[in-house]
Amino acid sequence: MPDATVESPRPGAALSGKRLRVLSGMQPTGRMHLGNYLGALRNWVQLQDQYECVFFVADYHSLTTVTDPASIRPAITEMVLDWLATGLDPQRSIIFRQSDLPEVAELHLLLSMTTPLGWLERVPSYKEKVAQFPDNQNYGLLGYPVLQAADILLPRADRVPVGEDQAPHIELTREIARRFNHLFGQVFPEPQGLFTEIPRVMGTDGVSKMSKSRGNTIGMLDSPEQIRKTVMTMVTDVERPLRSDAGHPERCNVCALHRFFSPDRLAEIWQGEREARTGCVEVKRWLAEAIADHFAPMREKRAGLAAQPGLVDDVLADGARRARVAARETLNMAREACGLAVSSTAV
Ligand code: ADP
Ligand code: TRP
Repeated sequence: MPDATVESPRPGAALSGKRLRVLSGMQPTGRMHLGNYLGALRNWVQLQDQYECVFFVADYHSLTTVTDPASIRPAITEMVLDWLATGLDPQRSIIFRQSDLPEVAELHLLLSMTTPLGWLERVPSYKEKVAQFPDNQNYGLLGYPVLQAADILLPRADRVPVGEDQAPHIELTREIARRFNHLFGQVFPEPQGLFTEIPRVMGTDGVSKMSKSRGNTIGMLDSPEQIRKTVMTMVTDVERPLRSDAGHPERCNVCALHRFFSPDRLAEIWQGEREARTGCVEVKRWLAEAIADHFAPMREKRAGLAAQPGLVDDVLADGARRARVAARETLNMAREACGLAVSSTAV
């Protein structure tokens, strides 16, 4: 996979013809946690320096699992405030809401015509959702990756920064693009995933991926008190039942998080664990403090942003207006390639 920090622009790749285009999105299903931050969001912020960036709220996607419509709009505002507080900059990046660009639904329809069912039935997230919600096996779940492919292909994105769990969706997007191009002529670039050096953050249970749906998250902008409470519940080194036993920092999730949050003290913390000079409680307390300190400026920024009424609505409205330009252009290219009339309302 390409390394975002060294990649140089490829002339003519994105529609603007200058910098490579990055696109990513998240479903509005809750506040940001450390998995979102370390696996994706932190990368999004950094990529703004080098790429033409487009980030969006995947609210159509959230309808595959969200059952309370009233929760969606407030969740969008909360999530976008988290993004802005972390450093996403609406001046430099396009930030929009998926459902403000229904062009994506039409591209999803066109792509669905050429996507073999077998490809979709094999997607790991589909199999997981079917097991998790046996009574709600809707088409939306099966078509989820086709809609995701439409999200990525509509702005003709070159790179997609996401956590490791999304890799199968990116791979499928490439296959969907390749097949469409093969059948109808070259329309879409094949996008590539961009991953951080921590592409999979483990949850507080220490055994599964940190995820809202598993209830094992640490909220990145939670209060220091809440962060401390959550971190103290973390499962540590299961092979160290007694305080006097030697620890195995390389197999402990708390020690793994210190890698990012306490780089200056890492060697000392790991050695203390190995030699049983420190106990899990201290190591967790230090982690909670380091996490709370890391996010302190963002917590403060968020409070200021949240006090500005209408800010998120304005950002999203402006983002939709800017995102629509490339969306309509691509949709017309795809319509024409498929043999449909080119929409007179487009572009
Ligand atoms: P969740 O699993 O909590 O619902 P999402 O599926 O909304 O999280 O993920 C949003 C983004 O954050 C995606 O790019 C995803 O890959 C990334 N991400 C989520 N959880 C993790 C994790 N534990 N480790 C690394 N990246 C993650
Ligand atoms: N499936 C992604 C997730 O759960 C959200 C998403 C939807 C996405 N469309 C996308 C991510 C396009 C990257 C690109 O996190």
